[in-house]
Amino acid sequence: METIIELKNVTFDYFSGGQPVRALENVSLAIGKGEYLALIGANGSGKSTLARHLNALLLPTAGEVRVDGFLTTQEEHTWEIRRRVGMVFQNPDNQIVATTVEEDVAFGLENLGVETGQIIKRVKKALALVGLQSFRNHAPHLLSGGQKQRLAIAGVLAMLPRCLVLDEPTAMLDPRGSQEVLETIRRMNRQEGITVVHITHYLDEIMEADRILVMHQGKIVLSGLPAAIFAGETNLEQFGLETPTIPKLARLLRAGGLQIPAQVLSVEGLVNFLGEGPAPAKNETRPQQT
Ligand SMILES: Nc1ncnc2c1ncn2[C@@H]1O[C@H](COP(=O)(O)OP(=O)(O)OP(=O)(O)O)[C@@H](O)[C@H]1O
Ligand SMILES: [Mg+2]
Repeated sequence: METIIELKNVTFDYFSGGQPVRALENVSLAIGKGEYLALIGANGSGKSTLARHLNALLLPTAGEVRVDGFLTTQEEHTWEIRRRVGMVFQNPDNQIVATTVEEDVAFGLENLGVETGQIIKRVKKALALVGLQSFRNHAPHLLSGGQKQRLAIAGVLAMLPRCLVLDEPTAMLDPRGSQEVLETIRRMNRQEGITVVHITHYLDEIMEADRILVMHQGKIVLSGLPAAIFAGETNLEQFGLETPTIPKLARLLRAGGLQIPAQVLSVEGLVNFLGEGPAPAKNETRPQQT
């Protein structure tokens, strides 16, 4: 696979009260074009710091980062790098800049001096990609959380990025909003071929990632397919993580003698493997809807 972003021996220190705080320690990593990469790890393990190195928001204390071959330390390339690698953050409200959905998506392009005809085309396409066309004249602050986050993604897509870096994009959303955003991210990856770097504490979100990296104290300590990370030998608790429910259940069933393949990581996968799902519960045992 061709590489889009490469980190070589990246170390990064913050300075707090004059004292260095090491946040990344000798991290090397090649991200492939079109890859769906997930980044997990406990609070403070260095995920956001790594993410901010991918589009030159932070520059390494030692080592180097290249995006499409451009070194992030070369200021003349900063803009090219930021256009190629778009960031989406946790709080959708902080990412809204205009009074209508359409203007919000157009904002970045206007700043770039893109000509009007192009802006109109790109805004239309970006809104279609995230499913917000019919909201184009709405006020962004009236959208749901999931819609706001999709609007933030549209703003990035309008820049025609090669890579989307999402730092806990569903942290503030309800299950439905999260689902909308996750589907949008997966579609951008599969249909548009956009490279995705997805940071999350919700491990169920990344069972279909091409590769998962586990961070611990500023280092990448594990890397592999979801099945290798969650059904492998390594215990994740030592890195402050919990094995998600289904792989944990599969492990217990395996210990009890059922030959469940490591690839079974989701409810659907487990139900398929076990054959027919359980009979539906009787009506009277269901909670009443009021
Ligand atoms: N602006 C800052 N100044 C000083 N230290 C910082 C700063 N930002 C982060 N750190 C420290 O750097 C380390 C890595 O932080 P980072 O935010 O990258 O972790 P994270 O994995 O994204 O955590 P979380 O899951 O809580 O978002 C932590 O020890 C943190 O306290
Ligand atoms: Mg973070």
